[in-house]
Amino acid sequence: MADQIRLLVIEDVPQVAQHMRSLLSAQSQIKMLDVVTSGEHALAAVAEVRPDVLIVDALLQGRVSGTQVAEQVRRSEPTVAVIVLTVPQNQVSEDPAMGVDAVLKMPFSGFDLTTLVRKVHERRGVDASRSGSMMVSLFSPKGGVGRTTLAYNLAVAASAKHSVCLIDGSLQFSDLRGLLRAPVTAPSIMNLPTDRIRDADVADVVWKDPSGVDVLLAPPRLEMAEMVTVRDIEKALSILRQIYEVIVVDTRASLSDDVLAFLDASDLILQVLASDTMAIRGLGMVDEAFATIGYPASKLAVVLNRSDSTGGFSRTDLEEALNRRIDYEVVSDGRLVVAANNEGVPFVLASPDAPISVGMRAMADSVTARLREPVPALVRR
Ligand SMILES: Nc1ncnc2c1ncn2[C@@H]1O[C@H](COP(=O)(O)OP(=O)(O)O)[C@@H](O)[C@H]1O
Ligand SMILES: [Mg+2]
Repeated sequence: MADQIRLLVIEDVPQVAQHMRSLLSAQSQIKMLDVVTSGEHALAAVAEVRPDVLIVDALLQGRVSGTQVAEQVRRSEPTVAVIVLTVPQNQVSEDPAMGVDAVLKMPFSGFDLTTLVRKVHERRGVDASRSGSMMVSLFSPKGGVGRTTLAYNLAVAASAKHSVCLIDGSLQFSDLRGLLRAPVTAPSIMNLPTDRIRDADVADVVWKDPSGVDVLLAPPRLEMAEMVTVRDIEKALSILRQIYEVIVVDTRASLSDDVLAFLDASDLILQVLASDTMAIRGLGMVDEAFATIGYPASKLAVVLNRSDSTGGFSRTDLEEALNRRIDYEVVSDGRLVVAANNEGVPFVLASPDAPISVGMRAMADSVTARLREPVPALVRR
C-alpha cells in the first residue's frame, strides 16, 4: 500500500505500547513497525527503521528523556514527524523547532491516535517536500520515445548545480545499465538491505558515473526485476531523498506497481511524447489514469522529444489533439545523440553548445526551480 504511514513507538511501559497496538489493529493505513523501550536506542532505531511518524513517551525512564529524543530526531531526521505522548499532569507544549509536532494526552481513543498520526504526517510531508529535495520521473506508455536518453542528460545537466541521483526504473531491462555500460557485477537496487537502509549502504550501491552523477541501477538480469518490491522502492526513495537534492527516474513503458511506486513519490512526472498518433492516444489514456489516481495537474508536464521533426504536426495541432499544453521541447539531433549514446556519454557534456544541449540545460533549470531553498527545521516557524 503506497500511502501506508510507518509508525515507530518509543515507549517503556508495555501496557501503553500494547494499547496503541490494539487501537491500530482495526485499521490498515497506519503500520506500527516496532516499539523501542529506551530513549538511548531511539535515534539508531529511527535511522534504521525509517518511520514516517514517531511517537515518543515524554515520561521515559532512563538517561534520555522523551523530549530529548524528539529534539534529537528533529535534528538528525527532519522528515520524521514526532508526536510526544504525555499525561495531563505533565504539560508538554507543541514546538516543531524542538521536534514536538503534536502532543497526545493519555487517555486517548483510537480515533484520537489515528487522526493525529495522519495530521502530523501530512504536515511534515509538506514541510519535508520543501526541505531541499525533488524527484522527477520520465514516463511514457510507449517505448523508444527517449525517456532513458533524456533522463540521463537531464540528470547530468542538473548535476552542474545540484547533487543528483539517477535511478534506473526500467527494472526488467535496466536501460541505464546498458547505456552507461555498467558491468553485470555493478550493484543494483537489489543490493540495498531490504529492511534497514543507511546512508552508507547507498554509497556502496550507487554506480559512480564519470559524468558525476550517482546512479542506482536496476538488477542485471530480467528475472530479478520481480524480486524488487514496491516496499523496496519506497524505502530506497525515502533515503535517497534525504541524501540527494534531485532524483531523476527513468521508467519503463507500463503502469505497473513498480512504476507507480516511482510516479507516486515523484514531485514531477515528465511525460515524454513523440509526435505520432499512437503516442498521442497513449498520453490521453495515461492522463485519464493519472486523473483517476488523483495526481494534481501541477505534478504533470509534457516533453515533446524531437520537436523539430514532428512529421507534419505543428505544436498547436498537437496541443489541440492532446487538449493540454506542451511544457518542454527537445529538438532532434540524430548524429550527436546516437554517437553519445553509443559511447555511453551524455550529449550535454559531449557537445555542450549544440542546441539540444542548451535546451536540455534550460529544461533542467526549469525543473529544478521546483526545488525550493532548504528550510532548516530548527529555524523554521
Ligand atoms: N532528441 C533526440 N534526437 C535524436 N535521437 C534521439 C533523441 N531522443 C532519443 N533519441 C534516440 O531514440 C532512441 C530511443 O531512445 P531511448 O532513450 O532509448 O528511449 P526510451 O527509453 O523511451 O525507450 C535512441 O536510439 C536514441 O538515441
Ligand atoms: Mg528506456
